[in-house]
Amino acid sequence: MREASVQFHDELPDHAGLREEVLRGLRARPRRLPPKLFYDRRGSELFDAICRLPEYYLTRTEMAILRANSTALAPLAATPTVLIELGSGASQKIRLLLDTLRPRAYVGVDISRDFLLQSTRRLAADYPWLKVYAVCTDFCQPLQLSCCAPELKRLVFFPGSSIGNFELEEAARFLRQLRALLGADGVLLIGVDLKKDTRVLHAAYNDAQGVTAEFNLNLLRRLQREMGAQLDAGGFRHESFYDDKLGRIEMHLVSRRAQQIRIGHEVFHFDKDERVHTENSYKYSVEEFQALARRAGYDPQSVWTDADRLFSVHCLRVSRS
Ligand code: AVJ
Repeated sequence: MREASVQFHDELPDHAGLREEVLRGLRARPRRLPPKLFYDRRGSELFDAICRLPEYYLTRTEMAILRANSTALAPLAATPTVLIELGSGASQKIRLLLDTLRPRAYVGVDISRDFLLQSTRRLAADYPWLKVYAVCTDFCQPLQLSCCAPELKRLVFFPGSSIGNFELEEAARFLRQLRALLGADGVLLIGVDLKKDTRVLHAAYNDAQGVTAEFNLNLLRRLQREMGAQLDAGGFRHESFYDDKLGRIEMHLVSRRAQQIRIGHEVFHFDKDERVHTENSYKYSVEEFQALARRAGYDPQSVWTDADRLFSVHCLRVSRS
């Protein structure tokens, strides 16, 4: 097989930042750890397994929506375009868009370095006509990507309802900031999970095989592996529920008993049932998300959903005014 070439840019700061963020989160009350910490190599693999679970309808439904609307999507890359994917993970969904849009170049942006490299290399091998870039970074930070085909029109794909990890105001700020990356004629294609029956949501985040629990608990194992944290991951359990008023799934790690986590010289005491908040996953109605997009400086162009109204894909343009 021909050696697949990927232009790789590593823009992730070293581990000092991670350590500070973890310590700050564990000192805070209520305790919290940011969801981006889920995605070390093992976490990315577990997330990939989540995407294939029968209960986790998000990935499958988003794919089906993209497939069903490929004719409407095709004109998005009528002029020479670079397709930029934020949180590219296993780079599976993107294949569908590559087949439909045939852009000149592809940029995978992900925080999980090894996983990103492996996935984009595989992609480059399967799409020899495509120029492939991989940028390892935390996409919550402002992105320029001046390294990656700056002359091409930009189409940013932000799949999977990752936008749901942000608080509502943060989401608006994030989208506003993304306009700089898009440029005046850029297009944002964004997957957003819809509000729905609580039981469906609950099942998606409490799967029968316990993969989501393992994904959540891996955060603690990561602290052991990368920071030498002394803790008993088995002393915690996965908890996840939908808060109807706030319109979000919350994930927590709950201490099964009184215990402590030690990191360096610092000791964190946990009472029985004390928790660490690890993730929010906001759900939006179509109208709520369009209002958010307008506030952030976009004109909603199109929105597609599945027949069961589980998931939505929005096409947004940077507004002129
Ligand atoms: C990648 C943030 C979209 O919120 O559904 C999956 C992560 N957490 N199961 C989501 C996740 C638990 C996922 N996002």
